[in-house]
Amino acid sequence: MSNAATDPYADLHQSYGRCLRDKDFIGRFYDVFLASNPDVPPMFARTDFSKQRMALRRGITMAIFHAGGSRVVDRGIDEMAGVHARGGRCPVPAALYRDWVASLLKVVEETDPEADAALMARWREALGVVVDTFQARDAAPAAPDTAERSGARGLFSRVMQGLKA
Ligand code: HEM
Repeated sequence: MSNAATDPYADLHQSYGRCLRDKDFIGRFYDVFLASNPDVPPMFARTDFSKQRMALRRGITMAIFHAGGSRVVDRGIDEMAGVHARGGRCPVPAALYRDWVASLLKVVEETDPEADAALMARWREALGVVVDTFQARDAAPAAPDTAERSGARGLFSRVMQGLKA
């Protein structure tokens, strides 16, 4: 597993750590993101923000590891990509990723006392990797429904019908 010495984005893990010392960091991100585009607030109309803030806090850590090439977070990244993909629980139109990234960059820049242009360029680069991964997932066709699988499902439904009869 990567650590602070070997992770190519160790500087971002540290920057993020400085941001999180401010307990309102994630909350401010959502304030900025919800105000960034009128399409965003309706998507969060039923969201429990106390849970959402925790999920995003972890999600950003995973995003930084993923951008650095770590495979340890593959499952978490895949789950997040699935939630946001077409057909997922919260499908995200591609254009909104730009607002998401811009909102996060703004709040990092305002919060991390060590933020400078070079560090912000590193953040932009790393978040770009994650957005690309999410969008590649979105572009991929749904898993093919093989004859074998639909056959199994056919059998399953016949058995269920039999139980009901
Ligand atoms: C790369 C950028 C993004 C990351 C890392 C991210 C991360 C996450 C995570 C970790 C969750 C919680 C998943 C769960 O509950 O299982 C989530 C949920 C969600 N995200 Fe994102 N997200 C990103 C971009 C976006 C964008 C651009 C939108 C556009 C509006 C968005 C809208 C949502 C919504 C609506 C939910 C569900 C909230 C609910 O459960 O009510 N996300 N996201």
